[in-house]
Amino acid sequence: MYTTWNELEDSIKNCEKCKLCEGRKNIVFGVGNKNAKIMFIGEGPGADEDEQGEPFVGKAGQLMNKAFEYIGIDRKEVYIANIVKCRPPNNRNPEEDEAAACLDYLRNQVILVKPKIIVLLGSVALQNILGTEYKITASRGKCFVKKDIKYFPTWHPSAVLRDENKKVDFIRDLLVVYMESLKN
Ligand code: URA
Ligand code: SF4
Repeated sequence: MYTTWNELEDSIKNCEKCKLCEGRKNIVFGVGNKNAKIMFIGEGPGADEDEQGEPFVGKAGQLMNKAFEYIGIDRKEVYIANIVKCRPPNNRNPEEDEAAACLDYLRNQVILVKPKIIVLLGSVALQNILGTEYKITASRGKCFVKKDIKYFPTWHPSAVLRDENKKVDFIRDLLVVYMESLKN
């Protein structure tokens, strides 16, 4: 574990700990307020993120930004990262060995940000952080407290793009998160 952002960011440069290094253009480390109250965790970079080196800048990110605006969440005030930092080919889910190889970086990010709230976007984030026994359909809309951090699973914005019906849940879940973040 690194105690400073500089050391952590240096340690990930040129990372070849898993096979996702082969196809990436850019490592997508994370973005936002390094002292954020709320941290968002997605799955992994898509084509746009790989191109720009920033998480959630493509279609899913635009939907998330719209939800943020609607609710009053300032994207610059939260911290956003992913389970894997390099793009899986054809946007497939990260494989177990890839997530396992990359997870130490995310754990270190969480330790440095010290968020009160972590939003788990979709099943990949949920199962890698809380455990494979958690299912997204049953877990979303609920809060799980572990070691003083409140975890709020919700739909991945890409799932919301595929299914309009999930939009209401998504907005409602983020509204609950925002209201929770306003407490003390
Ligand atoms: N989907 C993700 O899970 N993460 C991103 O950064 C972009 C899309
Ligand atoms: Fe390293 Fe993570 Fe990229 Fe794999 S996905 S090469 S572990 S930074």
